[in-house]
Amino acid sequence: MKINLNDNFRNLAQSYLFSEIGRRVREYQAANPDKSVVRLGIGDVTLPLPACVTAAMQTAAAELGDKKTFRGYPPEYGYDFLREAIRAHYASFGVSVAQEDIFVSDGAKSDCGNFTDVLGDNTVYMPDPVYPVYMDSNVMSGRTVVLLPSTPENGFLPMPDERCSTGVYYLCSPNNPTGAAYSAGQLKVWVDFAKASGSLILYDAAYEAFISDDSPRSIYAVEGANECAVEICSFSKTAGFTGTRCGYTVVPGTLMAGDVSLRALWARRQATKFNGVSYPVQRAAAAAYSPEGMAACMENIAYYKENARLIAALLDQKGIPYTGGKNSPYLWLACPGGMSSWDFFDYLLQSVQVVGTPGAGFGACGEGFFRLTSFGSREATAEAVRRLRGAL
Ligand code: MLT
Repeated sequence: MKINLNDNFRNLAQSYLFSEIGRRVREYQAANPDKSVVRLGIGDVTLPLPACVTAAMQTAAAELGDKKTFRGYPPEYGYDFLREAIRAHYASFGVSVAQEDIFVSDGAKSDCGNFTDVLGDNTVYMPDPVYPVYMDSNVMSGRTVVLLPSTPENGFLPMPDERCSTGVYYLCSPNNPTGAAYSAGQLKVWVDFAKASGSLILYDAAYEAFISDDSPRSIYAVEGANECAVEICSFSKTAGFTGTRCGYTVVPGTLMAGDVSLRALWARRQATKFNGVSYPVQRAAAAAYSPEGMAACMENIAYYKENARLIAALLDQKGIPYTGGKNSPYLWLACPGGMSSWDFFDYLLQSVQVVGTPGAGFGACGEGFFRLTSFGSREATAEAVRRLRGAL
């Protein structure tokens, strides 16, 4: 072929973090077929979907099989029944979001990457360590990325500093990977900074349902955020949709760059490149907001939090410093003995067959740290804790 390819791909890390972990674990298992591996690496849920969610999905599928109730293309921004349920969900914790600002999608990961389509050549700021999707999608589109170190000194919650000027800022709270969550006061500082500098915040709230203190569950809880922030959220971790795929992005109509509405650009992008989420999946997502659905989701989250507590108790017992676990399904720990994070990954895999995620995979400031997820089954988590007790 003689076509030109996107040379920016040369600047990406060789493989996506979770693909690389998967590859190493498969290789280990192939060489050691008798060993049972406990996976606390990728943050993938293990509890089944709530019964009312699968019932809604089945009913919707049956409707599609009947001439009288069949539906074709879904509306590209989502069915009104789901957009309204999302609006009401925000209202339930005191945040006002307009239905026409909500865009239903196949997940937060896609939206985090796709949103770069509507952005020009801005400097993009993000914490280090960071969810690799923010970094990779901006490297793919050739943007300059400035990393804001996220360290024990700043509680893994970087704030605007002298390096920051007008640009696009990715914030994630509760944070993946560190589990730290911004307070209302800290988010207010970010919003004030964004408004004063004419910057845009892309706020990833995928883990909001895990918040158990008074940290904001949405950036729109902060006054002025609807003039500077887009919020991206997901049913994956709240309702167990990692395999089902459904998320949404809120782009307030009040977000303007000069005389151009960001919402209009995102609507245009989605109308061209996205044909919406399937009807059964949107019905399932709406069912997750029913009283029965919410109760089941909160029960599942409580289960994962108990897993986090079990892991945290071990780390406390071993005197290993960590963040997360309380407002987040992730625990972010310092690798014992000053080990590098990939060495620690190999050590745990070889010695006790427990898989976590090496902090260095999330960025240079993640070196020396390690992430464990509480999304495993109780049995797997208890077994991992038992094995780690011997290995740490
Ligand atoms: C993670 O483990 O960081 C997440 O599962 C990744 C994702 O949500 O895409």
